Amino acid sequence: MAQISISQLSVGYGADPVIRDFSLTIEDGSLYTLLGPSGCGKTTLLRTIAGFIPVRQGKLRFGERDVTHLPAHLRDVGMVFQDYALFPDKTVFDNVAYGLRARKIDAATIQRTVGEYLERVGLGAYASRLPAALSGGQRQRVALARALAIKPTVLLMDEPLSNLDAKLRVQVRETISDLQKEIGITTVLVTHDQEEALAMSDRIGLIREGRLEQSGTPQDLYARPRSAYAADFVGAANIVEASLAAPAAADSLADVRLHGMALQALAPEALPAGTAALIARPEMLLLSPDGAPASNQLRCTIRRRQYLGARTIYAVELDGGAVLRVETDDHQVLPAVGEHALLRFDAQQTRVVAA
Ligand SMILES: Nc1ncnc2c1ncn2[C@@H]1O[C@H](COP(=O)(O)OP(=O)(O)OP(=O)(O)O)[C@@H](O)[C@H]1O
Ligand SMILES: [Mg+2]
Repeated sequence: MAQISISQLSVGYGADPVIRDFSLTIEDGSLYTLLGPSGCGKTTLLRTIAGFIPVRQGKLRFGERDVTHLPAHLRDVGMVFQDYALFPDKTVFDNVAYGLRARKIDAATIQRTVGEYLERVGLGAYASRLPAALSGGQRQRVALARALAIKPTVLLMDEPLSNLDAKLRVQVRETISDLQKEIGITTVLVTHDQEEALAMSDRIGLIREGRLEQSGTPQDLYARPRSAYAADFVGAANIVEASLAAPAAADSLADVRLHGMALQALAPEALPAGTAALIARPEMLLLSPDGAPASNQLRCTIRRRQYLGARTIYAVELDGGAVLRVETDDHQVLPAVGEHALLRFDAQQTRVVAA
């Protein structure tokens, strides 16, 4: 078990680095998720931590150990891949035993360890099966048992759930989360699925074109996005163009103008005067019957209403043109399509960030 420290790392394939000046500390025993769109460099960073891609610049440490230039097989890393990467001609037992045999562990210990990890992933009865006779979820559990059986220092997983259907994905996700916590192994998970990231992670690093856009707890990323990119990638967000009459200090309530109307919103970073982006989560917006607007309330017209039982989703148009999504589970007031209403922006929950 160890903390992973990445400092000022640069990695690439051609002339331009894919990962640029990347620094991050992953706490010992935590599950850290690298989240981001296709091509942003998640797999590249994970494979660099594993030792499959040489580091150009910067440092990589597991605990006190500098592993920057250590060959992959000496790093003591367990890997789980999207496509399971099981040996098709070996039984479940032999797949899980593979890394132990390579380490010349004695047969009795191998027998015991493989049995223990197959039990842990719920496959105690499948030891003599071949991978072809398993479901996708079972194959990924074998891959997980194989990665953990060698008792690695860190566990690295590249999109381990993306080949599974929706229901299995949730089951295997719970197996991974439970085992990771039970064993307390420092784990780095790669995904482009924001729900998976929110559900599983202690912390999430959102990657944008090889750089760390924002790193924090799931709550930090969802409730306190520091950019329009982060708000847009994690959860649903209304992002509308607004303006600031004066510069705003970091972590201050800023006076924002939206279609000429005044609003207050929290600025997580310092901002210059001029164009900015206003961010509001659909469930943080509050609709009420038409009347005289109070502070942080704007007039709007209901354009669409979808009643979904537990909640209702509206498309509302502000006077001035912006259309916002509003979600509510409060069914006391259900304004109808075409009606005017008031829309309240909670100043602490609404963000203003660089455009
Ligand atoms: N072996 C390679 N040789 C050259 N370029 C590569 C190689 N592997 C990846 N790249 C490039 O590096 C960039 C980052 O790729 P990477 O595989 O790390 O992205 P990713 O975030 O894992 O994407 P995805 O979600 O699609 O898996 C991409 O532009 C990709 O084309
Ligand atoms: Mg990838």
